Amino acid sequence: MGYRVAVVGATGAVGREMIKTLAQREFPASEVVALASARSVGQEISFGPKQVLKVKNLETFDFTGWDIGLFSPGAAISAVHGPRAAAAGCVVIDNTSHFRMEYDIPLVVPEVNPEALDKFAKRNIIANPNCSTIQMVVALKPLHDRFRIKRVVVSTYQSVSGAGKEGMDELFNHTKALFVNDPNTPEIFTKEIAYNCIPHIDRFLEDGSTKEEWKMVVETKKILDPDIAVFATCVRVPVFIGHAESVDVEFERPASVAEARAALRAATRRRSTASARTRSTSAGSARIRRWPTASASGASPTICAKAPP
Ligand SMILES: NC(=O)c1ccc[n+]([C@@H]2O[C@H](COP(=O)([O-])OP(=O)(O)OC[C@H]3O[C@@H](n4cnc5c(N)ncnc54)[C@H](OP(=O)(O)O)[C@@H]3O)[C@@H](O)[C@H]2O)c1
Repeated sequence: MGYRVAVVGATGAVGREMIKTLAQREFPASEVVALASARSVGQEISFGPKQVLKVKNLETFDFTGWDIGLFSPGAAISAVHGPRAAAAGCVVIDNTSHFRMEYDIPLVVPEVNPEALDKFAKRNIIANPNCSTIQMVVALKPLHDRFRIKRVVVSTYQSVSGAGKEGMDELFNHTKALFVNDPNTPEIFTKEIAYNCIPHIDRFLEDGSTKEEWKMVVETKKILDPDIAVFATCVRVPVFIGHAESVDVEFERPASVAEARAALRAATRRRSTASARTRSTSAGSARIRRWPTASASGASPTICAKAPP
């Protein structure tokens, strides 16, 4: 006996990673179904070395009897089919932005706030934060527990994988076109992405921030602590996979670089003891520095956390 798992958005950048991870981690699934739009019906996706999943149509799929739905079909599609799956008894774990800020839906990063899961049964939906938020809060959590964070200023360097498979195709095609002098028209990104950095992810809001920057602010508050002040600048860079971040953190309590590093190392050790399969964002992949002007007693380390491989 195992779980019956539906992967929704299975042909996309996130969905394919989910299917790969289910197989790699030998998740106890008795059955896995791949769902996407009508365009992809019949497409084949490898599941582990031996199995092939034939994509089915989300629109007509009946979730009755399915235990877990891993959703990443885009916010508008999750908005319709997430509640439909949840009502049929399937626990929906949604990667899109649609449910994240709803008060009765837990927004969970397992290494940071697993206790929030207690509330999931009300709607049968669990939301997953934005990818930039996830890797930042994993690093911030042990520092907040130890030194109480007052303020965070973060700048991101986000790969095109965050814009899905079409974003990755656009970087590939634009880079190739540049070399042979062909014209490039941005479609997924607002400017040409080849050899360029674009400080514009998602749409602009009234205060001049982008929605991506807003997400980092409100999601961090919901997951970690509403009292933390967060200021984010999100930039798309011409890299296929892997987000990086520069995070400037101000604490309430004095913290030296050595203490900050020790707190991050201890958290990594705890996680690897609990499971060999957790994220490794921490002292091992981070550069930690202190403001040159900070006094020895009130040091504010600057943390540059690299995305885990
Ligand atoms: N990429 C990331 O790093 C990342 C990280 C966290 C969260 N997310 C979120 O996850 C979602 C998907 O991202 P992605 O990068 O995987 O995008 P993507 O590569 O463009 O894939 C989109 C997936 O959704 C499916 N889909 C689109 N319209 C559909 C419809 N009408 N009915 C059923 N399925 C439909 C697509 O199926 P077809 O192939 O049939 O069109 C495809 O499987 C987005 O909301 C994104 O914000 C992405």
